[in-house]
Amino acid sequence: MLDKKTLGQYPGMSGMNALVVGSSRGIGRSIAVGLANAGAAVVGVARSSDALDELDDEIREGGGQFLGLTQDLGEADAIDEWVDEAWRWRGSIDCLVNAAGVTNRSTALEVTTAEWDQLFDLNLRGAFFLMQALGKRMLASDGGTIVNIASLSGVVSDGAQAVYSASKAAMIRMTSVLANQWAPQIRLNCVSPGWVETEMTSNFLAVDSNRSAILECTPLQRVAAPTEMVGSVLFLLSDMSSFMTGQNLVVDGGWTS
Ligand SMILES: NC(=O)c1ccc[n+]([C@@H]2O[C@H](COP(=O)([O-])OP(=O)(O)OC[C@H]3O[C@@H](n4cnc5c(N)ncnc54)[C@H](OP(=O)(O)O)[C@@H]3O)[C@@H](O)[C@H]2O)c1
Repeated sequence: MLDKKTLGQYPGMSGMNALVVGSSRGIGRSIAVGLANAGAAVVGVARSSDALDELDDEIREGGGQFLGLTQDLGEADAIDEWVDEAWRWRGSIDCLVNAAGVTNRSTALEVTTAEWDQLFDLNLRGAFFLMQALGKRMLASDGGTIVNIASLSGVVSDGAQAVYSASKAAMIRMTSVLANQWAPQIRLNCVSPGWVETEMTSNFLAVDSNRSAILECTPLQRVAAPTEMVGSVLFLLSDMSSFMTGQNLVVDGGWTS
């Protein structure tokens, strides 16, 4: 895995200001730590203030800079206000990672309108208005880079999770449209993970038959650790990917190969 020494040499992240939404656990937390280890100052956003406090301690102990904001991305009307606070912390935000997300495992015949609204309010509506709030500030200043965490389920059918898959497919297209609209000042890309061991997947992966079915479709024969998403995200945020925008980088252990 990428350690502090390796990430400290990652080109172009040192001195950057990054906003990571969904940073209290899982993939977003790993990305926040990875960015801090690479020298970026990090604003972390999620609803769990205790988890953000722990992350604050970990990043500061490592010599990094962190601001935790306890906010609900599903409440779109409040986004502009806390994005403003994040921006004022260090005078700008150069990078945004949207790693907040929820899934819903109800079958298509069972899913309720309330479940649909909850999922789309966060995965898509919140993601859009977050990009709008930050995009207008980036366009009025020095530009920036944005990475949205989509999903393998937004690319191919997993035979389940119709609502979640629809939200992730929409996120991939929304990202590519905004990449066209906001070029050349802002580059936007997606990272689409395959199966990653996090709280989101823990119940599902605890069932042996589910885990074996996944491993059968994954040439690398395992699920990923959250830290294995960090390299792709840093690549897309940094100048290492300076001629890439509007793309979807699938990090799935070979599932779609
Ligand atoms: N794990 C996988 O296999 C996998 C695969 C493909 C894609 N993804 C995507 O990767 C992203 C991260 O997933 P994960 O597996 O790391 O999930 P996770 O462990 O459940 O973490 C989800 C994160 O989103 C935050 N969040 C949830 N609702 C929120 C809200 N209303 N407002 C603000 N933050 C909220 C959570 O923080 P709080 O609860 O503290 O708010 C948490 O930090 C998601 O978009 C997911 O769809 C995951």
